[in-house]
Amino acid sequence: MSRFAFTLNGSPREVDADPMARALDVLREDLRLTGTKEGCGEGECGACTVLLDGEPVCACLVPAMQLGGADVRTVEGVASAGELDAVQRAMIEAGGVQCGACTPGVVVSLRALLDRDARPTKDAVREAIAGNLCRCTGYERIVRAALEAAERSAR
Ligand code: FES
Ligand code: FES
Repeated sequence: MSRFAFTLNGSPREVDADPMARALDVLREDLRLTGTKEGCGEGECGACTVLLDGEPVCACLVPAMQLGGADVRTVEGVASAGELDAVQRAMIEAGGVQCGACTPGVVVSLRALLDRDARPTKDAVREAIAGNLCRCTGYERIVRAALEAAERSAR
């Protein structure tokens, strides 16, 4: 066990973990942030997407030691002050959430996109969620939600 100190959703946190434990397990089991989901466990589905220093990563592939000193943002850190983020609202309204298995990862990927590109093209949205598998929506509604969220945030 080692102790890792990092920033989690804007607040300082420390956790004792095996350095090679999966960040996904540390977040879900040790820190009780169960919004991050496990799908494949092999880096293929994107259900476990979190932001590490602003970059989307698969938490199932990241060892706990990489959390040390990092700025970590999970889906729990996307909403603020009890208000859903524009991406979350648009996903609900556009029907971009169906079974919901992929949704936390999609929301995190889209939030990262809009943070670096306030007015993304449709292609940029598709590229941003290329690592997030969704079996339900056919992606079109997710893309629409992302463009709508960008549009609203720009108003
Ligand atoms: S659970 Fe991590 S990519 Fe599928
Ligand atoms: S909404 Fe079911 S997998 Fe995406």
